[in-house]
Amino acid sequence: MKFLVLNGVNLNMLGIREKELYGDRDFKSLERYIKKSAKQAGVKVVTRQSNSEGKLCEYIQKAYKKFDGIVINPGAYTHTSVALLDALKAVNIPTVEVHLTDVDNREDFRKISYVSLYAFKKISGQGFEGYKTAIDELIKKLN
Ligand code: DQA
Repeated sequence: MKFLVLNGVNLNMLGIREKELYGDRDFKSLERYIKKSAKQAGVKVVTRQSNSEGKLCEYIQKAYKKFDGIVINPGAYTHTSVALLDALKAVNIPTVEVHLTDVDNREDFRKISYVSLYAFKKISGQGFEGYKTAIDELIKKLN
């Protein structure tokens, strides 16, 4: 099994941005955590991050017929992007949505997620561990 893990806008600022919410570990350490989790689970993983909505759509489009599953944390695009939703629908690859923070218990606008309309599972508020949970959920779904 081969999974694409996509991180969106401002996730590269981990360790710098709002540490009281997102913690002090940086983005490189998140990527290391994701790769370690995938290895332990016995799946292949490719990680990508972009601050550009269009670039994220391109990563999703290029995943067509190349990946068995997608884990996505779109950052703030979660709450605004019909384009990401449409891209996921287009490639029709099983997808889990992840958020480091508990988005349903923050500002009201964070309760809206377009990606949720496609993803079969949403994991939020588990920090880094949410990505491991997402990988496990994808494996369960595909088996
Ligand atoms: C986030 C939550 C979003 O609301 C926010 O815009 C982010 C990060 C999270 O991982 O908790 O950038 O997706």
